[in-house]
Amino acid sequence: MDELQVYAAVGSQGFERLTAAFYRQVPGDDVLGRLYPAHDLAGAEQRLRDFLIYRFGGPATYIEQRGHPRLRMRHAPFAIGQRERDRWVQLMDRALEEAAFPEEAQRIVREFFGGMATFMINRPA
Ligand code: HEM
Repeated sequence: MDELQVYAAVGSQGFERLTAAFYRQVPGDDVLGRLYPAHDLAGAEQRLRDFLIYRFGGPATYIEQRGHPRLRMRHAPFAIGQRERDRWVQLMDRALEEAAFPEEAQRIVREFFGGMATFMINRPA
């Protein structure tokens, strides 16, 4: 399976389970909670879900609505150091367990998250 086949394996429902499980943990998280927009968590959840659906071979709704992802630039307003990166990955690992993807799809998505999360670091430790 390659990255673009993940969507066929888990469907939009798989990514819905994943992002719902991730964002359920965010408001109460002592590291990440204050970074996210409390008034628009549902919107944030939808942006991440649409991005992932597009990135893993599904419909490009994210691109239609948000344009080129430019994720490092979009994360620049948020102070992301090693601690924030590691916590993001930890919450996403838990969400992945809950979303119950087929094993190979889970491995591909987890590897992508690890690399991307490191790439988002924009502050010294
Ligand atoms: C490393 C730790 C990370 C932190 C602390 C973080 C934090 C945030 C915050 C606070 C937002 C704004 C929420 C909103 O959309 O209103 C956001 C947006 C977003 N993040 Fe992250 N993020 C991290 C890593 C990642 C990774 C690894 C990905 C990709 C897999 C990602 C994908 C996105 C996307 C797609 C958006 C919406 C961008 C847009 O269209 O505006 N983030 N992130």
